[in-house]
Amino acid sequence: MRVLVTGGAGYIGSHTVLELMAAGHDVQVLDNFENASPEVLVRLRELSNGELSHVEADIRDSDSLAQVMQDFRPEAVVHFAGLKSVPESGTNPLRYYDVNVTGTLRLVKAMEAVGCGRIIFSSSATVYGAPQYLPYDEKHPCAPVNVYGRTKLMAEQALTDWQATQPGSSVVLLRYFNPVGAHASAQIGEDPRGVPGNLMPFVAQVAVGRRETLQVFGDDYDTPDGTGVRDYIHVVDLARAHLAALDAASGASVYNVGTGTGYSVMDMVKGFEAASGRPIPLEISARRPGDLPAYYADSSRAQAELNWRAEHTLDDICASTWRWQSQNPNGY
Ligand code: NAD
Ligand code: UFG
Repeated sequence: MRVLVTGGAGYIGSHTVLELMAAGHDVQVLDNFENASPEVLVRLRELSNGELSHVEADIRDSDSLAQVMQDFRPEAVVHFAGLKSVPESGTNPLRYYDVNVTGTLRLVKAMEAVGCGRIIFSSSATVYGAPQYLPYDEKHPCAPVNVYGRTKLMAEQALTDWQATQPGSSVVLLRYFNPVGAHASAQIGEDPRGVPGNLMPFVAQVAVGRRETLQVFGDDYDTPDGTGVRDYIHVVDLARAHLAALDAASGASVYNVGTGTGYSVMDMVKGFEAASGRPIPLEISARRPGDLPAYYADSSRAQAELNWRAEHTLDDICASTWRWQSQNPNGY
């Protein structure tokens, strides 16, 4: 299948491009490189030993989108391009609505113009908001508590409404939990710009000597060891969920993509110390505003309908992150 991957140079997109190519799909990447390095594409071409075309463009640029659709004629779009920082979404909401909502609308309009009616969308567990029960299943009410989550929910709703008007089309909304880990080759991985906002890249940078001390945001939550609990999913498992979704897509559907297991901050630190053989100096600091104590996924729908489940363990996650970080201490 011809698959256009927006944001395909980014962290999750790059891992998904490799899996798509390995499965024999003809892939084109569309990315404006605002949060990615062009070096990613060099590495993807080496790793896949295959043809990978790319276009440098912004998903809000309708003229470029129209050209891409005319030239590449995708049969499906996997839509990763977007902004993902929760704190930044609060300080710059219009930018987040513009890229994540307007960008998605323009993309779908361009698809419609060439009769492409199949899209897989990167959504987030953050659309659920404060848990009324755990694990979250897809029927849990959606009440996001931050701007980023609201932009994702709006895009979900727009895509679902659009699908209902397009006979033969399909929209798959994938709600990711916490993507972590790196490809087994250690050639691609997560390379955040500036100070990492997320736990695992921060831990990895402490281990490799780029940062001194991990701040643990609160140890007084109502969790087994007092630190926050999340459902960490290996990025390669997450990438494979997109392939399963492409195969199964029909109508509008939504799936949680997680492991179903929650690990605490301290579990992740201990796992990383074991994998790297390095100590992770840490300090307990105040809770981070907006953080939830604990959440994790019920992914049984994806298992039943997509025949997908996460296969990598916490050890795989820590070992692959360490291989990536130690072999690329300064990223790409
Ligand atoms: P990322 O920043 O590594 O990848 C996003 C890619 O999109 C980057 O390559 C960036 O350059 C590109 N991009 C950004 N704005 C663009 C624009 N206007 N036009 C074209 N390209 C643009 O992020 P990621 O972690 O790979 O996340 C991918 C998607 O998954 C995002 O939509 C994100 O919201 C969603 N998601 C991520 C997480 C997470 O924790 N990483 C969790 C849930 C959902
Ligand atoms: N944490 C620390 N220290 C740090 C960073 C994080 O203790 O330096 C803790 C947090 O308090 C939390 C846990 O580690 O308990 C995980 O935090 P992350 O920032 O790695 O991830 P979040 O769960 O806050 O959010 C992530 C993405 C969101 C996405 C969400 C989906 O950042 O964009 O997962 O589940 F929506």
